[in-house]
Amino acid sequence: MPKIVIAIDGYSSCGKSTTAKAVAARMSYGYIDTGAMYRAVSLYFIQERVSLSNSREVTAALEKIHITFNHNNRTGKNETCLNSLNVEDEIRKMYISNIVSEVSAIPEVRWAMVAQQQKMGRRRGVVMDGRDIGTKVFPDAEVKVFMTADTYTRARRRQQELLAKGELINLDDIIQNLEKRDLIDTTRIESPLRQADDAILLDTSHMTIEEQVDWVIELADRRL
Ligand code: C5P
Repeated sequence: MPKIVIAIDGYSSCGKSTTAKAVAARMSYGYIDTGAMYRAVSLYFIQERVSLSNSREVTAALEKIHITFNHNNRTGKNETCLNSLNVEDEIRKMYISNIVSEVSAIPEVRWAMVAQQQKMGRRRGVVMDGRDIGTKVFPDAEVKVFMTADTYTRARRRQQELLAKGELINLDDIIQNLEKRDLIDTTRIESPLRQADDAILLDTSHMTIEEQVDWVIELADRRL
């Protein structure tokens, strides 16, 4: 059977990653969390005190960054590795969420990540989630979904995720962070977040993860 690319774009905390991961598992496809890559770059920039406004420093730092994904057979979880170190838990923290959209708006950062993502998906058979997969990384993706949900629902979901990891953040701070990220993501010059003309809109406000997964699989089945 031919393998396709499934691009899932949209706003933060709409259930993109959870859905994409489950779709990939059901289809025996690879899963690439492109947001994790921008988060890993942000972590490296913080650790190495890279000045975001200095493009020479940014370019030099990007050359030293190697991001990989590892499936941990013991926990059954996907881990993001930055220069061979598992940073999965660290990159999900609020201090990374607070700078990741500024980092990912830097053109040099985007060029480097987009090139790497295109390489990772070149054999197809992948589900990739992010902000610019259907518009920039794989404009020829066979399936394009654009996810949205109301801000309150997204914030509650994000709060639960953080709580499950032991970080208690109040709802207003989360809403503020989501709105700030949406604004930066949709207004940046280089591949801003937008729905591709041929992407299908999915409002997940009143959907369970299972319903979202079934919906994407059904769409994929029709394209296979
Ligand atoms: O998906 P997640 O919320 O973890 O992504 C973190 C941030 O990374 C987003 O808010 C966005 O600024 C950036 N991002 C991006 N392009 C992607 C994926 C994520 O700019 N393809």
